Amino acid sequence: MIVGGSTLPDEYVGLSDELAEERIRAKRAEYGSRLVLLAHHYQRKEIVRLSDFRGDSYALSKRASQQGSDLIVFCGVHFMAESADVLTRDDQRVYLPNMAARCPMADMADPADVEVAWASLLDVLGPGPALPVLYINSVAELKAFCGREGGTVCTSSNAKAAIEWALKRAKRVLFLPDQHLGRNTGKRLGVPRERMVVWDPELPLGGLEPAELEKAVLILWKGYCHVHTWFSVEHVRAVRASFPKAKVVVHPECTEEVVDLADASGSTEFIVNYVHSAPSGSVIAIGTEVNLVSRLALEYPDKRVFELSRSLCPNMFRINLKNLLWTLERLDESTLVRVAPELKPGARLALDRMLTISEVRK
Ligand code: 13P
Ligand code: SF4
Repeated sequence: MIVGGSTLPDEYVGLSDELAEERIRAKRAEYGSRLVLLAHHYQRKEIVRLSDFRGDSYALSKRASQQGSDLIVFCGVHFMAESADVLTRDDQRVYLPNMAARCPMADMADPADVEVAWASLLDVLGPGPALPVLYINSVAELKAFCGREGGTVCTSSNAKAAIEWALKRAKRVLFLPDQHLGRNTGKRLGVPRERMVVWDPELPLGGLEPAELEKAVLILWKGYCHVHTWFSVEHVRAVRASFPKAKVVVHPECTEEVVDLADASGSTEFIVNYVHSAPSGSVIAIGTEVNLVSRLALEYPDKRVFELSRSLCPNMFRINLKNLLWTLERLDESTLVRVAPELKPGARLALDRMLTISEVRK
């Protein structure tokens, strides 16, 4: 049977959750410390419960880079497993239980389109037209491009530090692929609106005039996350009308209008900490993926935690107990994530820069 892009044998399809979990625990015990299970905050609660470590993209990358275990099972989406493969030793292996779990936003920056954009920028602006700051939600080939061109990777928890770092070294930043994270971060840094432009890869010269590019401080790739652009100003207003005491917390992949109306915004780890630190009795509406929001509601019954609106990431949801069990019982090529060796040094450079920038900031 085909399940989410992976062929799952019938014996797994019919398994109850209880039995699948029991077999997962048995397999984990068999591997012991040789195997580690990492889970992103958007994973289903039963997956998070089984994981050794849960975190946002930054924490997971850092954890992967410090990992001693030779087998890493990544419950998240493909770019996260790729980053883990780049950050680990060659003898360590990284598995993704469903290879169809990809981030659609990462796929909005096609490496060939980025090469065309870069050549056009060089043409119009001359050598060193910008430094690339690449959101980690991107393919390994782009991480290699970023390393080669002197740029850095960032996550939603260190985008501000990464852009500041880049603007100390260049007049402009090409930020990709999430225009919203780029714009929200540019705004926090005080970059004027007219100096942030959007590059549309489907138009010649990104749909921009040379003079606009010349003036730009941030060139934002026209990508977005559908899970977060779902949240609207109306959602925030409706919550405020019904719950006047509610705090609204959103992820910075939301639109600028939503982030502006919210009380706070930050990475998934920031959101987890926000709820954790809020006093008992707090009312908190959250604008991010619903699996995280539901779990927080369960974990903090003394607080009223609910979703700003229901928005689910179908790709994160592709990982389930059955394909996790299937992965653990096989650990073979079908779920192995391997970044091409020629891409690894450049990608590693860009990811290491991010880790260094974030460490220096602490
Ligand atoms: P975080 O780095 O905040 O966990 O975000 C990852 C992601 O994919 C958000 O949609
Ligand atoms: Fe990608 Fe959005 Fe899903 Fe995060 S929530 S993995 S950015 S589609």
